[in-house]
Amino acid sequence: MSRFGSEGEDIIGKWSEDKLALLAKYLKAYSVIMNDQKKSWLREYYYIDAFAGSVRPRAKEDEQRYIDGSPLRALQTEPKFDAYFFIDVSSRRIERIEMLREDFPHSRIEIYEGNCNNVLRDNIIPQIPYASKKRAFVFLDPYGLQVDWETIQDLANTKTCDIFINFSVMGVTRLLPKDQPPQSEALEQISKVMGSTDWINQIYQPPAQVQLSLFENPEPTLSRETIRAEWLASLYTEHLSSLFPHVSKAVLMKNSTNSALYALCLASHNQTAVKITNDIFNRYEHLSQIS
Ligand SMILES: C[S@@+](CC[C@H](N)C(=O)[O-])C[C@H]1O[C@@H](n2cnc3c(N)ncnc32)[C@H](O)[C@@H]1O
Repeated sequence: MSRFGSEGEDIIGKWSEDKLALLAKYLKAYSVIMNDQKKSWLREYYYIDAFAGSVRPRAKEDEQRYIDGSPLRALQTEPKFDAYFFIDVSSRRIERIEMLREDFPHSRIEIYEGNCNNVLRDNIIPQIPYASKKRAFVFLDPYGLQVDWETIQDLANTKTCDIFINFSVMGVTRLLPKDQPPQSEALEQISKVMGSTDWINQIYQPPAQVQLSLFENPEPTLSRETIRAEWLASLYTEHLSSLFPHVSKAVLMKNSTNSALYALCLASHNQTAVKITNDIFNRYEHLSQIS
């Protein structure tokens, strides 16, 4: 699915640009609010990018056009965050991320090469306990099924971290055969990212039943695949609601052939944060929203 340019940079489609635009809008709102809180109880607030990526990806439809990736969107946000934590598993990506130190010499930038599940658990979460009066925004933007449910649990338990996650519905859908429930290896993979698999049998009901049980106003034109993607997205946000007190609606990120790839949503400890996210999503009307 992913393509890379000659310098190891991602080549990204229109939906990724939408994702980055939504991220930038939310970061601005978050940073304004948090900066204001620093006048009273808040000591510091951080941006944590668990899948920092290639920094300046190129646009698929015009490979001469560079796009600011998520680390740049965060570093450009005003007011500034107190620190930026960037994680990536690829050493080539890390080299590109290191260069940001030169471009933003006054920003505190911490860079970790490794699997973000381990880095978050061992290196970053211990720096943000509740008593620290610090807060963090964590962006989880994997290619596929790389975010462990345990990591989401650890982040929720901090009560200091909000997460903005681009959940790979396509990654899960691929593990769900069309006509029969998945085998044990696939079940294990799904359980690792979604926390449970007891919901899977519902997917193998006839489509009409699935539709009726899930949507108040089912759209007759929805294909079985779309239903699955929307269903999975709302299931994931439901799972997130068991860990975080407030979860936004999800927006489905679709490719040029209208296949649902990801579901983007915010899980937070703060009601206002979710309201802001839903307002931002509402303004992007062409995206499919799932409440
Ligand atoms: C979709 S790209 C990130 C794009 C970036 N967030 C942006 O919007 O510009 C996914 C990145 O995650 C990295 N990656 C893959 N598995 C990882 C893992 N387990 N931990 C940390 N990074 C990982 C890849 O090297 C890749 O750079």
